[in-house]
Order: sequence, then C-alpha cells, then structure tokens
Amino acid sequence: MIKKPLNWAELGFQYVKTDFRFTATHIYGEWQSGNLIKDENISIQEGAPSLHYAQQCFEGMKAQTARDGRILLFRPELNSERMNRTAARLLMPEVPKNLFLQAVEETVRANYAWIPPYGSGASLYIRPMLIGVGENLGLKPARSFEFRVFVSPVGPYYKNAGLAAISLAVSELDRAAPQGTGSYKAGANYAGGLMATLKAQELGANEALYLDSAEHRYIDEAGSANIIVSMEDGTLTTPASNAILPSITRRSVMEIAATQLNMKTVERSIDLREEFGSFQEMGACGTAAVLSPVGRVFFDNDWHMVNGDGQTVGPVMQHLYDSLVGIQKGENDDVFGWLREVDI
Ligand SMILES: Cc1ncc(COP(=O)(O)O)c(C=O)c1O
Repeated sequence: MIKKPLNWAELGFQYVKTDFRFTATHIYGEWQSGNLIKDENISIQEGAPSLHYAQQCFEGMKAQTARDGRILLFRPELNSERMNRTAARLLMPEVPKNLFLQAVEETVRANYAWIPPYGSGASLYIRPMLIGVGENLGLKPARSFEFRVFVSPVGPYYKNAGLAAISLAVSELDRAAPQGTGSYKAGANYAGGLMATLKAQELGANEALYLDSAEHRYIDEAGSANIIVSMEDGTLTTPASNAILPSITRRSVMEIAATQLNMKTVERSIDLREEFGSFQEMGACGTAAVLSPVGRVFFDNDWHMVNGDGQTVGPVMQHLYDSLVGIQKGENDDVFGWLREVDI
C-alpha cells in the first residue's frame, strides 16, 4: 500500500489529520458496537459534562514500523488497564479490553498509509479518549459516553530531541493534590498544567518539573513524563508518589535496568535540593518523550547542571534508550513479551 507523501523526518509532535477514526457509544448502560468513521469532528450536546466538568480521560501510545514491515504496538494492554482505572475514578464506564484493542488496531490498520516507515525517526501516535456526552447541567456524571480513537503521525516531542539532553524548570504551580487525580490520565490535570509549561518555556526550559504539592521538596514528575535518576550509589531511582501518572515507559525502563544493566531499582521519595548533588544522570520518560536525558534543572532562581555540562548523554540513559527503542522497533528480541503486532 502506498504511503502518504509526508516529509516524515521533519514531523514534530503535532496533529495531522488522518483518514479514519474509531467511535463507540455507551448509552442506556451498555456499549454499542463501534465502527470506523471519516469525520474528524465530534458533535455533542452543549451541556455535555466533558465540556463543563472535565468528565473525560484519554490515553497515549504509539505504533512503529519494524525493519521487516511489521506494525508494532508497545504494551497496549497496559493503556487499556490505565484508561479503565481513570474511568472508574471519574465515574465513567470502563471500556472493555477487547473493544479498546479492537479500536486501536482497526484505526491503525485503516490508516496504514499514515504510519511512518521504518528508519524515518517518526511513529504513529494513538490517542484513545473517553468523554461524557449527552445533556446535563448539574454536577453529576453523564448518562452517555463516547469512546474514540484517532491517530496522527508524529516526530520527536521535544524540539531538540533525538537523544539530546533537555532542560526542566521547577514549577511554582502545583499539578496535583496528594489525594487528587494526579495518578489518573484525566484531561483536567493537563488544563491546570498549561500555564506551568508556558512559564517553564519562558525560562528557556523544555518542560515544567513538578515537586510534591504538600512540601515542595520531592520530585513528582515532568509535565508529560516521569522522572528517573541514576544515582551515585549505582541505583536507578524513581519517585514514589501517588500524585504522578504511572508511566508505562518508566515501568518498562525500570525492568530493563534491573535485568540488563543489573542495576538496583528503587522507588522512593527524592528530595530535589538535598539529593541533586548525587544525581549522575537524570531522564524524563514517556510515550511522547521516549527517554530524554535531562541536562539542566532550574530551581531556586538558578540553573543546576546534572553532573557536568548539562549536555552530555550518560551511559545509563544511552543504554536504556537503545534497549527500549530497540524493542519498540522490533530490532531487539522481545524478551519481555511487550509487543503486539497489528495484522495489516
Ligand atoms: C503526566 C504524564 N506523566 C507521565 C507520562 C508517561 O506515561 P507513559 O509512559 O505511559 O506514556 C505521561 C504520558 O505520556 C504523562 O502525561
């Protein structure tokens, strides 16, 4: 099948309209069978709770083309589980795993011409979303819901990406309360973060870095990625916090570090100011960010370099990046059983 004439290598992380999207409706307490459609617009009632009270959530994942042409998804079952965890928290119906995977695979398959080829540096971003639709006014859950999946070919999330070091600026605005919705992929978390991102970018950083909102001491996460730190003591350490999104990339990278680098992996609170001096390498990881080494962090009115000049990509992040991306692109053996092939 012929690919679209896109300049794949020049793609950024922007919406590109593709040909098909999948939609399914939940009404009268049950899911109707879904189907592919061409219209990228959604028409919903003006009183829809997703518009007023942010009763909506989403997921983010990618499909990649392997060297041999296979189309690969990375741990999509975990995105299904996470969407259902978020849905339960927001009093929305769970999307059955079969429906989730069917929607993802059908949308990817139908948009085959938009899947970036192997070696282009780009991939197909997949956005499942669940929104409360139907009329409503009072603060109560919607009675009907739309589940939709659309895709867009994307390039690197950070402008200076590849495996170049990025910079983060500690936000004075909080992202999530300790018992709030920070660990769920609810759109409401991101609306509040727009200003934090803007302020970070005004300081010249790629993204905001959030500290815990109770004491403003411990690292929570970046605007769209979790944080991992290779410590002086040889451990790969990541924040323990119930206010951060449980990243599928982070979970995978921690497993790679433990099994392939024989590193001790630790999940615990990380005090930014007290421990920064023992950071050997720092990374931001996520579906969009992949694994971006963090070279500089702005806090207490100053830039602080991570172990050196703020530019160098260290050996731990390099290894983790190579292993992760190698598996995702089907170049390395799928020793963990993380890939799911889409039949084309
Ligand atoms: C706030 C936040 N943290 C972390 C992540 C990384 O999660 P994942 O690795 O599952 O994409 C994301 C999404 O990419 C995110 O939006």
